[in-house]
Amino acid sequence: MAPTSFFVSLFAVANCVLAAPWIGEIKEENGVTYQCKCYEDNSCWPTGAEWATLNTTVSGALQVAVPPGAVCYNRLGNISTFDAGKCAEVQSKWTDEQFQTDQTIANLWPFYTNNTCLPTNSPNATCTRGFYGQYVIVATTKEHIKAGIDFARTHNLRLIIRNTGHDFMGRSTGWGSLIINTHSFKETSFVEKYTGPGNWNGSAATVGAGVQGRELFRKAFAQKKVIVGGECPTVGWAGGYIQGGGHGPLTTIHGMGADNVLSFDAITAKGEYVTANVAENSDLFWALKGGGPSTFAVVTSITVKTFPELPVAGTIININSTHTNDTKVFAEGFRIFHNLSNHYVDNGMFVYFELQTLRLHIQPFVGPNMDAKKIKKVLKPLFDQLDAKKIPYDTVTKEFSTFFEFYIDMFEDETAGNNAVVGGRLFTKKDIAENGDAVVDALIMANAPTSDTLGFSVGHIVGPGHGVPVVDNAIHPKWRNASSFVITNILMNGDESWEVKQLRADQQTNIVGAALRKAGPDGATYVNEGDLYEPNWQESYWGSNYPKLLEIRKKYDPEGVFYTQTTPGTEDWSVIDFGTKLCKKVS
Ligand SMILES: Cc1cc2nc3c(=O)[nH]c(=O)nc-3n(C[C@H](O)[C@H](O)[C@H](O)COP(=O)(O)OP(=O)(O)OC[C@H]3O[C@@H](n4cnc5c(N)ncnc54)[C@H](O)[C@@H]3O)c2cc1C
Ligand SMILES: *[C@@H]1O[C@H](CO)[C@@H](O)[C@H](O)[C@H]1NC(C)=O
Ligand SMILES: *[C@@H]1O[C@H](CO)[C@@H](O)[C@H](O)[C@H]1NC(C)=O
Ligand SMILES: *[C@@H]1O[C@H](CO)[C@@H](O)[C@H](O)[C@H]1NC(C)=O
Ligand SMILES: *[C@@H]1O[C@H](CO)[C@@H](O)[C@H](O)[C@H]1NC(C)=O
Ligand SMILES: *[C@@H]1O[C@H](CO)[C@@H](O)[C@H](O)[C@H]1NC(C)=O
Ligand SMILES: *[C@@H]1O[C@H](CO)[C@@H](O)[C@H](O)[C@H]1NC(C)=O
Ligand SMILES: *[C@@H]1O[C@H](CO)[C@@H](O)[C@H](O)[C@H]1NC(C)=O
Ligand SMILES: *[C@@H]1O[C@H](CO)[C@@H](O)[C@H](O)[C@H]1NC(C)=O
Ligand SMILES: *[C@@H]1O[C@H](CO)[C@@H](O)[C@H](O)[C@H]1NC(C)=O
Repeated sequence: MAPTSFFVSLFAVANCVLAAPWIGEIKEENGVTYQCKCYEDNSCWPTGAEWATLNTTVSGALQVAVPPGAVCYNRLGNISTFDAGKCAEVQSKWTDEQFQTDQTIANLWPFYTNNTCLPTNSPNATCTRGFYGQYVIVATTKEHIKAGIDFARTHNLRLIIRNTGHDFMGRSTGWGSLIINTHSFKETSFVEKYTGPGNWNGSAATVGAGVQGRELFRKAFAQKKVIVGGECPTVGWAGGYIQGGGHGPLTTIHGMGADNVLSFDAITAKGEYVTANVAENSDLFWALKGGGPSTFAVVTSITVKTFPELPVAGTIININSTHTNDTKVFAEGFRIFHNLSNHYVDNGMFVYFELQTLRLHIQPFVGPNMDAKKIKKVLKPLFDQLDAKKIPYDTVTKEFSTFFEFYIDMFEDETAGNNAVVGGRLFTKKDIAENGDAVVDALIMANAPTSDTLGFSVGHIVGPGHGVPVVDNAIHPKWRNASSFVITNILMNGDESWEVKQLRADQQTNIVGAALRKAGPDGATYVNEGDLYEPNWQESYWGSNYPKLLEIRKKYDPEGVFYTQTTPGTEDWSVIDFGTKLCKKVS
């Protein structure tokens, strides 16, 4: 018997109420007692031989986790990492989203990695792992994923599922963790007639866990089909996106991403391969459709409805300091635009916009099944009101015979590497109709929430209840009445002290968030693009669906193998000790 397991079995006998064979350390913080996952500085951390055995099980796919910037430093601990060529590449591509998503453990928002080991010209500087994990399985088969889940469960390790590293809320990185990278699951296939369970005999696609937004749209286009996906080219589709619900340019006519799922293939916390659809594991099927990422299972592929290609027209509008420096004129322009949210969704539209002090960038208004003439007609009330109030602006309208050509032309690539604390709110049609001006005032306030902070908001005018049949899934029921969903950011440098970071998070929740909640009392929040400290998050993210989600979580992951903040069943868990150890409250 190895010394460690001898110690553990003694300990387990002494603490026979504790089910886990690998007991983590007990820690106190703010008067609360916690029991933690096992970390490298604990005796319950796996031995080198155990890691080596795992590596054999996954055919050599286990790697020591190395931050992407480490190639610019002489060493990470005792590992030599410097590579001048790779350093030049990481420096030039640091803000390139596709480059970042292709790295094994990179996260696109360095705020959540503690801004550690950033690319540098000083190789002697110190590279540390910050909030990155410890080991990563670069999985290429389902068996690799299962081996990672089993290893994390039996050794009581923090487990992170990392698909693209896109997550706005840092949910694909975790200090001291074992990471499973699902990025290489790219297999995709299409059928004209779906024959599986569920009330659907139309066309469908089966999409691997690692497929990204634009990549999927391109594959669908080759079949003359569309699939509901997000606006961002590089966001993973079958990972966090679907499991959080998923909105996108075609959502107002075809529903949320998760509304269109027919079946999941997944691996549970217990390491079981499962299919989840209306006929098999229907509770898991329901929960995976919007119940929260990294919560119920690791998804390996999804079968989803596809729809015929369609003509789409798009319009761009800019109002910024090129047009006016008068904050009142600017705010009035934004007010006129945003107050018509219900009108846009009633016409089947989706609208993407960015809002900052003296900068409103609407690109684009999405007009499904519209040509230029039609979209101009739908937007006439907007232009008439802007003109009547003498608001200066620029606009462009284009038409395309397919969604894909429209998408490539009119949606812009985004950049990685930004630092911010995130929040947001979904406003319903009722909020807009009864309280549209207050919503606008709250959003204008969020451009500069305090005298020393700047905001940046990303808006989506979207109505997944418009003409879409009612779908029974975990998505907050308020989405069916949605009109505008806005993400608010308080911009950061990333090098702020712990105290300032806490203060900014508090301002997001209690200044910006409070104003959004007050302006949109009928609304809700979105787990993929929301506040990690959202008050009453269970109700806010899932409404009346929460109790059922909690039950399903307890059934499929009773031990807490998976964890991301503000997802069902995580009430007793916290990341303590300055953002490092994941621990469970024991008293
Ligand atoms: C620039 C940008 C644009 C966005 N646009 C949209 C949009 O248009 N519509 C929209 O709805 N959302 C959008 N999002 C939010 C997006 O849906 C979430 O960030 C989502 O979590 C990304 O999922 P991912 O798998 O790509 O990312 P990751 O960061 O890799 O993972 C995110 C979360 O999902 C979990 N996860 C990943 N893969 C799996 C899996 N196979 N099984 C179980 N859990 C898994 C991870 O553990 C983590 O908790 C956008 C985000 C960004 C940064
Ligand atoms: C896992 O095995 C591969 C192939 O033998 C090796 O290259 C890699 O360094 C090993 N990983 C670890 C963490 O030792
Ligand atoms: C390098 O560091 C790791 C972790 O600190 C340790 O386990 C390992 O033995 C070290 N290797 C060498 C060659 O010093
Ligand atoms: C880096 O460290 C080495 C060895 O300690 C030293 O010789 C060298 O001058 C240092 N370089 C810089 C740029 O500080
Ligand atoms: C995070 O960054 C802060 C500030 O640089 C540092 O004090 C802290 O030790 C870092 N934490 C980790 C885990 O790297
Ligand atoms: C699909 O189902 C619909 C409604 O149940 C039915 O009317 C239609 O004929 C079916 N189509 C095919 C191709 O089977
Ligand atoms: C607004 O101010 C900027 C910076 O001073 C200036 O460049 C721009 O021309 C101004 N815009 C208008 C419309 O006057
Ligand atoms: C303002 O709008 C114009 C188009 O009208 C655009 O060219 C310019 O880049 C915008 N400025 C900013 C700061 O977004
Ligand atoms: C916005 O909508 C509200 C509520 O419907 C209305 O009272 C207000 O006048 C509108 N404002 C503008 C600028 O259209
Ligand atoms: C959505 O709006 C309809 C009509 O106003 C209302 O009956 C329904 O209760 C609303 N749904 C939710 C979840 O608020």
